[in-house]
Amino acid sequence: MTARVVCLSPFSEDAVRGLIDPRHPVEVILVPDPPAQEAVLEATHLAHLVIADQRHKHRIDRRVLENMRNCQLIQAASVGFDTVDHRAAAELGIPVANCAGYNREAVADWTMLAILALLRRGAWADRQMRTGWWSQQELLGHQLGALTVGIVGLGNVGGTVARRLTGFGSRVIYADPDPSREFPGAERVELEELLATADVVTVHVPLDVDTRGMIGRDAFARMKPGAFFVNASRGPVVDEAALLHALDSGHLGGAGLDVYETEPLAHDSPLRRVDRVFLSPHFAGTTVEARQRLYEMIGTNLNRVLDGEPPFNVVNQVGVGSAGS
Ligand SMILES: NC(=O)c1ccc[n+]([C@@H]2O[C@H](COP(=O)([O-])OP(=O)(O)OC[C@H]3O[C@@H](n4cnc5c(N)ncnc54)[C@H](O)[C@@H]3O)[C@@H](O)[C@H]2O)c1
Repeated sequence: MTARVVCLSPFSEDAVRGLIDPRHPVEVILVPDPPAQEAVLEATHLAHLVIADQRHKHRIDRRVLENMRNCQLIQAASVGFDTVDHRAAAELGIPVANCAGYNREAVADWTMLAILALLRRGAWADRQMRTGWWSQQELLGHQLGALTVGIVGLGNVGGTVARRLTGFGSRVIYADPDPSREFPGAERVELEELLATADVVTVHVPLDVDTRGMIGRDAFARMKPGAFFVNASRGPVVDEAALLHALDSGHLGGAGLDVYETEPLAHDSPLRRVDRVFLSPHFAGTTVEARQRLYEMIGTNLNRVLDGEPPFNVVNQVGVGSAGS
């Protein structure tokens, strides 16, 4: 039987074919760039395998899921799977898998870049130098090893950040509801204590119903005056208006952001005007090495399902072949 593979990510047909073992005959269908929800609905109707949208634009909502007749796997081309209604997929017996940890090293590297840029005003000083500026007075920064860093969410990325921080000699504290998450030398605390104690707070939780807006006015108010805040998880985890207030009031020392409530970040977003922020365009997880690992993980799962094997990294507790049961 020829399996129908529908790809919502911006991958070429050759790239998708390259993921599948030649033993398996497949028909590959690419969906036009977003917004194209009707095309998603139509293309996925008879799909056996769906690669979700790496850009997090095409949504696989309940309407799309209920219209599916053959789907055996929705494979996120990312770690986050917030554009897939994974609870509705579970009700319908469709497994949703992600590429857990594929870019943990890349995001952890970016997080260190952001923390150091904030502590030493790295990007700011570079911008000033280009205007002819020279001054050391404004650059008295902090050493990372002298500070306490609070990691919110000690998963694949958070744990990898912890590993890097121990090399710097920082005190590392973390908050995570999963009791199995730990890292040697890192101390588990409640979120309130983390916010009140850390000199740097870095957030690495998934976006879900209970994490949407979890870092808001109350959380920023709890942070130490002059604390630094970093977010490379998902924009809506943070209340951006509350963040701006904390920056404008001078309560926060600065913020490093890779993700935003709305992406791309608006041209006139006030965040672009604040000096003490370090901004990047949702690319923390994008490196040559991470991309290669992503393709490997997607290919492994597609081939496993075509071989009748259960996929790895299922995030909604559905076994393969449950669809329609
Ligand atoms: N900026 C980027 O380019 C980029 C790249 C990769 C991942 N991400 C985002 O980062 C998130 C984390 O990635 P990961 O690979 O570490 O995921 P992960 O699933 O391995 O870890 C997430 C951790 O957060 C914990 N958690 C859940 N709810 C929490 C809460 N309320 N408080 C504290 N901890 C909580 C979980 O128990 C888990 O340990 C992803 O979900 C994704 O949205 C962004």
